[in-house]
Amino acid sequence: MATDIKKLVAEMTLEEKASLCGGNDFWHLKAVERLGIPAVMVSDGPHGLRKQAEGGDHLGINDSIIAVCFPAACATAASFDKELIGKMGETIGDECQAENLSVVLGPAVNIKRSPLCGRNFEYFSEDPYLAGEMAASYINGVQSRHIGTSIKHFALNNQEYFRMSNDSRASERTIREIYLPAFETAVKKAQPKTVMCSYNKINGTYASDNEWLLTKVLRDDWGFEGYVMTDWGAVDDRVQGIRAGLELEMPGNTAENDAKIVAAVKDGSLDEALVDRAVERILTVVYDYIDNKVSGVVFDRDKDHEKAAAVEAECAVLLENNGVLPLAGDKSVVYIGEYAEKPRYQGGGSSHINSSKVTSALEAAKAKGRSVDYVKGFPFDKDEENEEELAKAVEAAKTHDVVVVFAGLPDNFESEGYDRADMDMPKCQNKLIAAVAAANPNTVVVLHNGSPIEAPWADDVAAILEMYLGGQGVGTATDELLYGEKNPCGHLAETFPLRVQDNPSYLNFNTDPEICNYAEGVYVGYRYYDKKAMPVRWAFGRGLSYTTFRIDNIRLSADSMDDDGCVEVSVDVTNTGDRAGKEVVQLYVSDLNGTPDRPVKELKGFDKVALEPGETKTVTMTVDARALSYYEEKLGDWFAPSGKYGILVGDASDNITACAELSFTTKKVVPLRIDGSVTIGELLANAATAPIVQQMMKAAAEQSPIMSEGTDLGDGGKMMEAMMRFMPLKSLKSFGMMDDAKMEGLMAVLRQALGR
Ligand code: BGC
Repeated sequence: MATDIKKLVAEMTLEEKASLCGGNDFWHLKAVERLGIPAVMVSDGPHGLRKQAEGGDHLGINDSIIAVCFPAACATAASFDKELIGKMGETIGDECQAENLSVVLGPAVNIKRSPLCGRNFEYFSEDPYLAGEMAASYINGVQSRHIGTSIKHFALNNQEYFRMSNDSRASERTIREIYLPAFETAVKKAQPKTVMCSYNKINGTYASDNEWLLTKVLRDDWGFEGYVMTDWGAVDDRVQGIRAGLELEMPGNTAENDAKIVAAVKDGSLDEALVDRAVERILTVVYDYIDNKVSGVVFDRDKDHEKAAAVEAECAVLLENNGVLPLAGDKSVVYIGEYAEKPRYQGGGSSHINSSKVTSALEAAKAKGRSVDYVKGFPFDKDEENEEELAKAVEAAKTHDVVVVFAGLPDNFESEGYDRADMDMPKCQNKLIAAVAAANPNTVVVLHNGSPIEAPWADDVAAILEMYLGGQGVGTATDELLYGEKNPCGHLAETFPLRVQDNPSYLNFNTDPEICNYAEGVYVGYRYYDKKAMPVRWAFGRGLSYTTFRIDNIRLSADSMDDDGCVEVSVDVTNTGDRAGKEVVQLYVSDLNGTPDRPVKELKGFDKVALEPGETKTVTMTVDARALSYYEEKLGDWFAPSGKYGILVGDASDNITACAELSFTTKKVVPLRIDGSVTIGELLANAATAPIVQQMMKAAAEQSPIMSEGTDLGDGGKMMEAMMRFMPLKSLKSFGMMDDAKMEGLMAVLRQALGR
């Protein structure tokens, strides 16, 4: 029977309630023994458990229990597979049940604003739609096991540089369109039990004190029902936090702040009902876990290791291939680079897992009895050139049919806690790849990295396979993909720009310890490169396969839609090659109305479909008004002007193969201000005010020769009309066309026409 939370709270003293609003230690909430409330445990993840028995820390320094490391979010996002990540969530939920963990701290959904963010490996995407869908599926998976999740870091924590104090400054439109939707989708589709607020400020107010963020947006707009906890040490003003909608302070050491809550209630500056509300929210989640505890679940590390390897095989992205892959069994092959032996498969910091075992590609190849030679070439953990190793590598390249270089970023190149200075790979690796590629045209590069790298050798090699940080089974997955036992089917969840300088945030990234100015607005990732028609190394959504696909025959269930409607978009996907494979179908929406300041196109749907050779399947996705909309600050709402929208479907943001047009009508009207600054053009564009202004201009034309030109259809008239568009009403007075009384009269008529 479900515990009666309200009754429990009613039995508690103020001191007990305040104490429950803070953690007991690094990983436990507080207990109230008198009432039988236990101290439940939370643990980092999100791609495996980092349960610490002793010596708690949030930086991945001290060891945790032996667990299974699944691919990090940089990889799982590239699977574009909601079902897959949902299943991974279920497994992690089961592991939590077995280990008595009530909440796993993740998923982490911050947008990859810059490729340099040290924590990008933990985040899903530069695209909020993709990040939101993947997060929601993961959460639904974990929570189906009655384990809570903590979606993080809410919000606008897109860098590590001064992450604990920096002020992220962005327009509301930018925040709502780019930085919040991943959280919004997760809340609406999956109700995470908890949300973790970030360290930073948002437009001047710390996330942990931010009532707009934690209550107005999260609860009032989206309907969040769980509780908010701080990131570890992110509390600012504890009492304001309670008012703002922050329930739990983590980690422990909260006695002083607990006392502040008590004092504030006693001196009347904090309503006790708000403390009750916070405790109720916390205990509801605690007892959801307690009341549904499943006993007898076993954490089978070997079985989950297999699962981790299977997930990774669905995530890897084939970036280039001239046909050298898959490797034919009769070719002589040499693996070069220490990652072949010691793969980099996870990132550093709070998500670091004490893995039960790790399979390398070399080990996997040996287990399969493949004849593969190995040359170390360069170390896995540092940028250190070794002429002897380089010479050995080049020699091996000459004497083998195919070379596979296992390259990537050493651990200390990217981690929680600091950002990268550039997008470079270690120089020793770039040098070796160039030398080996010059010696053997059949050079394949396998990458182990958590975020984009510059690849100066990209045009000189035969194939590139991006494994990302693929979890402890990465070697098995790499082996299966290289030898064609499995067919690559991941697609990029982020753009690889040619150079770091091309990134839209470049001029405003890590430039000021106090302020982070999101000056590029909504133009993040492909939204920027598309708009500027800039070449990139690899576009968002790109992913090759050992087979080929065709996406065509687009049709819409209706060719028009209104505010409350939705339209189904169907395409046929055909496997036109000779192997089974999976295609990622992506749907983008494009405003065709010339609305200023909108990205060229935005991802609004995707699906992954498995096809046998020659097989065709129909994929159907849904578009609603929100998918067409931008966030209109003047309206305080999502808005798409009536008009035409392009529905674009393809298998990469730069490979659209099926297009259709959709008409949209809205009843929403962007409010027009009526004061001296409103322009003739704005008034003419509004159906209610246009006739009044036209009438006024006609009257003016009859009196003034200059104005009469404005109503002519000749060229001069057009110019006059164009100039009038930008003329504010107040200027009519300066040009002697009105006096104060007439202006007031005009404004009254305009307001009346607008129903005000
Ligand atoms: C990280 C969180 C993590 C927490 C607990 C913080 O430093 O930002 O992502 O969950 O520590 O380890």
